[in-house]
This record gives sequence, C-alpha cells and structure tokens, in this order.
Amino acid sequence: MLETYNAGRVWFQTFKMVDMATHPANEAPADVHGDELLDDTLGLLHRKALTILKRIRDGALDPETGHKVGPSYPISKAASLVGRTASAIREAERDGRLPPRDRTASGHRVQYTLEELDHMRAVFGTRPWRAPGDVPAIISVSNFKGGVGKSTLALHLAQHFAVRGYRVLFIDCDSQASSTMMFGYRPDVDLGEDDTLYGHFHNPELLGVRSIIRKTHFYGLDLIPANLKLYNLEYEIAGYLAQNQSFDIIDLIAQAIDTVVDDYDVVVMDPPPALGMVSMAVLQAANAMVIPAPPSVIDFASTVSFIDMARTTMRQLEQLGGRVKPAYNFIRLVGSRVDESKSMHREILSMMRQVFGGSMISSVLKVSAEIDNASSRMKTVYELERPVTSHEVHNRCVRFLNDVCHDIEMDVLRTWESRAHKID
Ligand SMILES: Nc1ncnc2c1ncn2[C@@H]1O[C@H](COP(=O)(O)OP(=O)(O)OP(=O)(O)O)[C@@H](O)[C@H]1O
Ligand SMILES: [Mg+2]
Repeated sequence: MLETYNAGRVWFQTFKMVDMATHPANEAPADVHGDELLDDTLGLLHRKALTILKRIRDGALDPETGHKVGPSYPISKAASLVGRTASAIREAERDGRLPPRDRTASGHRVQYTLEELDHMRAVFGTRPWRAPGDVPAIISVSNFKGGVGKSTLALHLAQHFAVRGYRVLFIDCDSQASSTMMFGYRPDVDLGEDDTLYGHFHNPELLGVRSIIRKTHFYGLDLIPANLKLYNLEYEIAGYLAQNQSFDIIDLIAQAIDTVVDDYDVVVMDPPPALGMVSMAVLQAANAMVIPAPPSVIDFASTVSFIDMARTTMRQLEQLGGRVKPAYNFIRLVGSRVDESKSMHREILSMMRQVFGGSMISSVLKVSAEIDNASSRMKTVYELERPVTSHEVHNRCVRFLNDVCHDIEMDVLRTWESRAHKID
C-alpha cells in the first residue's frame, strides 16, 4: 500500500499541475479587448454571485459565534437516542454521574447537544461504535447522473449516523463542493487547494490526511472538504496513467482512507456526477455502494448505464493490473426524487421493486419542498430547528429520510460481526 502511495506522491510532486485557467495555451489571443470585456462581465457576475452566496451562508450561521450550530434535543428524544429512559438521565444527573442540567427561563431542561449525547452514551455504556475487528463501512453514494440526490442522501446519511453516536467521516469528492457548502463554507473563498484531497495528494508529507480532516458543527461528523481545485485531479490522474501505465494511482483515495479509518465507524463519500478519474477512485475506495435513482425514464436509463459502466470499468482496471477489488459488502438502490402523484414514477418504481427485489431499499426519498427549502438555507432537514413548510410536510420528510437511513444503517450493522447476530 505504502509503496504505491509514495510512488504516487513522487509523481504528484514532479508532475506540473495544468491549471486550465492559467495555462499558456489559454492566454489571451489576438482580440484582447474582447476578452477583457468578457472577463470583466464574467468577473462582475462572479462577484455578485459571491455576494448572494455570502448572504445565504451568513443566514445559516449563529449570529453570536459566526459558526453553524449542530442540533440539540429535548430530554425525551435525547433518551431514545442514547438508549436509556428520560428518568434514567434525570437520575444520573441527580446522583452526579452526569452534570446537573441548567434550566431555561420557562423551567425546562436546556436541550442536549450531540457532544452531550456522546458523553451520556459513554456514562451509560451505550456507544454504538464498532468492535475493533469489525470492518468500517466505506460507503459511496454514487450515480454518474447529475442531480439525482447523491449529495442530499450522502449528507443526511452521514448526519443520521452521527446523531446515533457513530464516528463518521464525510469526504466531499466533488469539485462542485455543494456538500462542503452545507457545512458552512464558501468553498472557493474560505478554502484553499491545500484544504482538500487535492492538496493532500500534492504534498502528503506536509498535508497528511489527518491534517485536512476538519471537525464540524455536527459533533461526531468530520469532514474532508472540496473546492473547484479538486477538479485538477482529473487531469493529473489521467496524465499519470498515460505516463506511467500504472493503475495504482486509482487507489489514492483508498490509501488516504486507510491511514485514518481506525478512528471511524462509517465513511461516506460524495463523488462527482461523471465517470471520471475521481469517481473511479471513489468506487475503488468504497466497500459499499448506495445508488440513488429517480424513477423517471431518462434518469433510470442513466442509472442502468452507470451500473454497467461501473462494472466494466472496474473489471478493466483489474485486467490492466490494478488492485483486485473485493466485492462490495452491500449495494443498494434507493428510489430518489420520487413524485408519487406521477403515474410514470409509480410504474417505474414498481418495476424497480420487482426487478431489484432486496437490492432496493423499501422506503424511498420522495420529492419534498422541505428538502429544497432546507438546502436553500444551507441546511439539511435534520438541521432545521422548525419546519419551513408545515409540521405535516416536515414530519413526513423526516420520516422517509429516517427510514432510508435506518435501512442503510442495518446494512452496515449486518457487516459487523459484533452486531450482525442482533439484526433481523
Ligand atoms: N427528494 C428531494 N426533494 C426535493 N428536492 C430535492 C430532493 N433531492 C434532492 N433535491 C434537490 O435537488 C438538487 C440536486 O440534489 P443533489 O445536489 O443532492 O443531487 P446530486 O446528485 O448530488 O447532484 P450533482 O450530480 O450535481 O452532484 C438540490 O437542490 C437538492 O436540494
Ligand atoms: Mg452532488
């Protein structure tokens, strides 16, 4: 493992990055004046767009701390999340096993944060962490089709695991960085290239994977962020393959995860919507795959092509001398962006269920205004303090998100020897 990694490192340090924006081939040709005008117009648009982004991002931050705030829960919900009763928590607070609880002005216990839930689990012995011999779940939420809900599912899934007390690493592998934004960053303003996987691969000694992992507002959920520079990895991996005819480079994300995975129960990767080098590296790194698939004809046809391309690409990699990848621990399709008021959606969904059977998660991610509303506030539905739509719409949306994430959690537990016998 390490030798390949070092080979990759040497190459990354010697291979000059081709930055498409500054490459001499892209320098201003004859009509400089026209280009300047174009540049000015685009520059202005870019600056204006950044102002809007900043305004939306600032709205998601706590005005006092200037940071995003993680969720907190009343005692009844906290109790169910830590696996004890509310009276067990009250008793532990009385007898000093847990710190005494402050009260709000109206006399209620102050809500419990994720960090406090983790402390409670430590006190009660209910942390759900895997046993050292259990294989951490490394899940890629993949589909080469754009806009099918990959990032939405990846984020909610990662937060679902963190809320339930698992140690989670989220890796944003998409240079569009929409997931990174949901953690409160303006990716191309607040982060440099050294803050992402790109920086790590250029300078692994200085920027070991651990140094690019960030704690987030969501306790228990760490992040490797992305920004636009990550896109350069596509060219660089392709260049490396052409020069070296060595396919080890495709294992770069797998090797990065390998060095830190002991600290985690679950790793969730959010890949870009393309069959590129980074997507392949993600597929190689994962030991489980979740495929969001909207039940519309075009999206479904793309999903079918994705499954075929993923299969043939990985087989070709093996034939060309890449690592022989063990089978995924589980592959699950999830109906996404499902609109049950459309007869075609209902029909395709029913066909998907018949054909895929147990490979398909029984619950689906329905189209919900709550998801759209939350994401336009740079939040997930799990982060909303109150419904943006109605209580009914909000609760329905939380329910289907929970159902899908719960099914995937059970898939993970089935792969852990220490827990498998307690499932089913
Ligand atoms: N179930 C849903 N209901 C309503 N809106 C949704 C739903 N799922 C996703 N969206 C919205 O659709 C848009 C695209 O979703 P998302 O970013 O998750 O897709 P993606 O597959 O990651 O896209 P890309 O391929 O560009 O990475 C987002 O604005 C998201 O909020
Ligand atoms: Mg995405």
